Amino acid sequence: MSLEQKISRLVPERLQKLEPYKTDSASGLVKLDAMELPFPIDAAVVESLHRALTEVELNRYPEARPKAIRSLLLSENRLGTKVDVVLGNGSDELIHLLCLLMCKTDQSTVLCPSPTFSVYRIAAEIVGLRYTEIDNSYDDFSLDFEHMMKAIERDEPALIFLASPNNPTGSTISKGEIEAICRKSRGLVVLDEAYWRFAGESLVYLTEIFENLLVLQTFSKIGFAGLRVGMLFGQKPWIDLIEKIRMPYNINSLSQAGALFALNNTTLIKGSIDRLKKERNWMFGQLSKINSVKVWPSEANFFLIRLIEQSGSSMFAQLKNKGFLVKNLTGSHPALMNCLRVTIGTREENIGFLSALRELCH
Ligand SMILES: Cc1ncc(COP(=O)(O)O)c(C=O)c1O
Repeated sequence: MSLEQKISRLVPERLQKLEPYKTDSASGLVKLDAMELPFPIDAAVVESLHRALTEVELNRYPEARPKAIRSLLLSENRLGTKVDVVLGNGSDELIHLLCLLMCKTDQSTVLCPSPTFSVYRIAAEIVGLRYTEIDNSYDDFSLDFEHMMKAIERDEPALIFLASPNNPTGSTISKGEIEAICRKSRGLVVLDEAYWRFAGESLVYLTEIFENLLVLQTFSKIGFAGLRVGMLFGQKPWIDLIEKIRMPYNINSLSQAGALFALNNTTLIKGSIDRLKKERNWMFGQLSKINSVKVWPSEANFFLIRLIEQSGSSMFAQLKNKGFLVKNLTGSHPALMNCLRVTIGTREENIGFLSALRELCH
């Protein structure tokens, strides 16, 4: 019997069928594919980061429930004693743990408005949850609220993921709709605020009001993607459960030092976000002027664009040839035919990207 046959007798079929999460190599390319912030850490403070990192005792295990980071996160968000926070190895790990937690029966369901972040589906499928979607509007990707309400009634989802602003569309869900979804749902509602700083206010305070609401945030989109630190806020009984199922030392010491540094330099982060938002306004104006490209408004640090006269996949390949890596979305959802997701870079990177795109559009 071949090794493949032996494996297929041992490993659940649903896991064998999974496709690994795909990331393109960005070597030698301008990286506009993963919604990282393009600005390096300010020279004025980089010394203090280096010092903090060299003070880390690498011979010791990290703190299992990093107290200083958690207290800063709770106080920064002015959260009362009902609410707690747990850290994950990126919010990806927390999404995985949430799916694991809510996997009570083989009928337990995850519901998402779609298109959305692909990890929700992957995490659901890994643990054997049923994954269902309702389509957002094909015009502006806004939530189909009526349809959502009906789906909650019909499917009684154990878990709902709402990304706002959403990846890959940059669209948001209103506070009123989120509250109504929390009221309607008998399961857990997870509001993923990975991009909230580019949009306006965080709704994390709603976790004090709704006992079935958890809020996800991350350091990844505010200049610290390499740390792999995400956080999940919610009422204590939920957070205690996630604490039970996460592995003991999931946030390594270097990441903890980096996260603490980030939390102590919020003014710098705010400066980078403001700079990025200005870049977004400029970039939207430039993209809107290209006739054969449709661009949707975005509340995040990326744009969804559609090639009107050409194939998105061929444009993706041609941009790559010219040194620009973006995300090709064709094939990921029917509403995303010929669409690309373009992360906003530095002014220089954006100018380069726009001139490559203009050239290829003619
Ligand atoms: C909506 C959304 N949530 C979560 C994540 C993952 O973030 P992290 O880097 O914290 O795992 C992403 C990454 O692109 C995302 O778009």
